[in-house]
Amino acid sequence: MSQPIRRIAISTGGGDAPGLNAVISSVVWAAANRGWECLGIRDGFNGILQPEHYPQGGVERLTRDRVRGIAHLGGTILGTTNKGDPLHFPTRQSDGTLGERDRSDEIVDYFRREQIDALVIVGGDGTMAIGEALQRKGLRVIGVPKTIDNDLDKTFTTFGFDTAVSFATESLDRLHSTAESHQRVMVVEVMGRYAGWIALHAGISGGAHAILIPEIPYDLQKVVAAIRERDAHGRQYSLVVVAEGAAPLQGERAVQVPAEVGHAERLGGIGERVAQQLAQLTGKDARTVVLGHLLRGGSPTTFDRLAAKRFGTAAVRGLDQGLSGVMVSLSHPNVVYVPLADVAGRMKCVPLDGDTLQTARDLGICLGD
Ligand code: F6P
Repeated sequence: MSQPIRRIAISTGGGDAPGLNAVISSVVWAAANRGWECLGIRDGFNGILQPEHYPQGGVERLTRDRVRGIAHLGGTILGTTNKGDPLHFPTRQSDGTLGERDRSDEIVDYFRREQIDALVIVGGDGTMAIGEALQRKGLRVIGVPKTIDNDLDKTFTTFGFDTAVSFATESLDRLHSTAESHQRVMVVEVMGRYAGWIALHAGISGGAHAILIPEIPYDLQKVVAAIRERDAHGRQYSLVVVAEGAAPLQGERAVQVPAEVGHAERLGGIGERVAQQLAQLTGKDARTVVLGHLLRGGSPTTFDRLAAKRFGTAAVRGLDQGLSGVMVSLSHPNVVYVPLADVAGRMKCVPLDGDTLQTARDLGICLGD
């Protein structure tokens, strides 16, 4: 029988996603309704590991009043970071170079010292790996799956994805008329890291004519052929959606900033590359739109808000039931619990035999293959 809970803490890590504040407020409410106190750690775990950066305190008490009215807002009131992984914390070495150090024991010590009984950790595959490591070191941990990319394994979806897809779809809706007026090729680059979920879902929903995703290395001549065929039928404009991680057959993906200590590589630039090549190969005017961080901002859609609230409350219920080392997950229509070890550092790509990809093919959308 696990110890009764009196105090929990919540941390949000990685890139922000619409729905984070809804998770925070529902964790706080569900905890308060059980008589538990809830603390919020600033900027992932930096609030604990770099207290000198937080004159007001790196860990704050989250009351019902503190979280009132935030569930519909984008971002996270706690802040987040993708530069503060406690397992690989960037640290200046004696020779002046930047190295990495495992500082996870300091988190465990902090929880013991402050008598915090459990951690709710909200993030993607990297954050779940941190949660799993902390759980192995003795903390009670429950994960909540977040990312606009939807690339986290063992959950039907993450919160944030629907908002990103909705915005990308609306952007495509708007681009049809201007592309048609000017008889242009519009290339729309979307986020998604090494997975094509956002590109595929928005591309189909927004009526794109070609969709390029990392899971299918593309041959640009196929896209050229699709554009020419449209031209031949009097439809002299085309919309091409490119996932930031897409790459040509026998070519490289576009990296804007290479990986450095404490930070993964930053992708970006494939849209402009594709637009320039298409302009050259088709003789048509081409323009690029990079949706980038617009996909991460703004209020969560109803779907994401509800998912976030279901996930947040299920995390608290799970802790109440004595669960640890698990992540809440959407297994339609229910929220279930899956081992953190099964999701930590594991990426979910678009399945090549899935019906969504088949939907695109049946609609005549070019996938670059
Ligand atoms: O994982 C979410 C995500 O938005 C990716 O789609 C993107 O590659 C990355 O984060 C960008 O992160 P940032 O600009 O915050 O470093």
